[in-house]
Amino acid sequence: MSDAYAVIGNPITHSKSPLIHTAFSKQTKQDMHYEALFAPLNGFTEAIRLFQQNDGKGMNVTIPFKSHAYKISTQLTEQAKAAQAVNTLVFNGNEIHGHNTDGTGLIRDIITNLGFTITSKRVLLCGAGGAASGIILPLLKQKPSTLVISNRTIQKAYKLQTQFSSYNNIIVSDNNMDISEKEFDLVINATSTSLIGKSLLLPQGIFATGSLAYDLMYGNEQTPFLQFSQKEGAGYLSDGAGMLVEQAAESFFLWRGIRPKTKELIRMLKENRL
Ligand code: ATR
Repeated sequence: MSDAYAVIGNPITHSKSPLIHTAFSKQTKQDMHYEALFAPLNGFTEAIRLFQQNDGKGMNVTIPFKSHAYKISTQLTEQAKAAQAVNTLVFNGNEIHGHNTDGTGLIRDIITNLGFTITSKRVLLCGAGGAASGIILPLLKQKPSTLVISNRTIQKAYKLQTQFSSYNNIIVSDNNMDISEKEFDLVINATSTSLIGKSLLLPQGIFATGSLAYDLMYGNEQTPFLQFSQKEGAGYLSDGAGMLVEQAAESFFLWRGIRPKTKELIRMLKENRL
């Protein structure tokens, strides 16, 4: 029987992960199958155990279970530990290895696919929820000159500053006061505003010449954050389609030891052909 993998979430019908991993397995000729698994909000642990008992080899974990997955993992990578969130599980007997490939996917998209350097750049990360937490360590490892986290609820940004205090100095701001009159080379939207079709309210003039605006969300239309960024003079715009495919490729590599090619799939996703 072919090896079983799944993405687990609630809701889950919208997930592109089955299409992406099926394409990866065909491309690399792996004997495996990958499905979408819905779990009730109070049924995550049970669903995981059942999948594992039925010889499942690994899983992706999506909203709202990434911190549950962190808690049930018996071993954690540095990145998962720092983020306190897990998006990839690797089953090894009774052991559950928890990884977080979101940040690696983002960094690979920005550096390898978009050709943008983060080292020595001024980075503004908007949002302080789960999505932001998952990408902070990989961002810090690129050694930006500054990393400012701005959030509507500033206390949550302070919490992240404390969580990552052993790595580097993060500056905290609300969405207005402290970042106005400052310029950034990379502005990342890790809030959920694009999900609800709203633009994030940020001060004018934050985009430096040649800056990149990156929205972790993606959709059929340009996201409200990218529309705002374009109007405000960002040099380059990208939604999160590339990050989605790259984080999947990283999970696939952890499971199968083979790194699939991503370029064509990213193009298909960006052109709404997936
Ligand atoms: P996720 O796991 O997707 O990160 P989350 O943990 O609920 O989801 O975090 C959502 C993020 O989007 C938070 O940073 C939230 O700001 P608050 O901490 O102030 O709630 C941000 N967010 C959501 N709606 C927003 C809005 N209308 N304006 C600004 N920020 C918003």
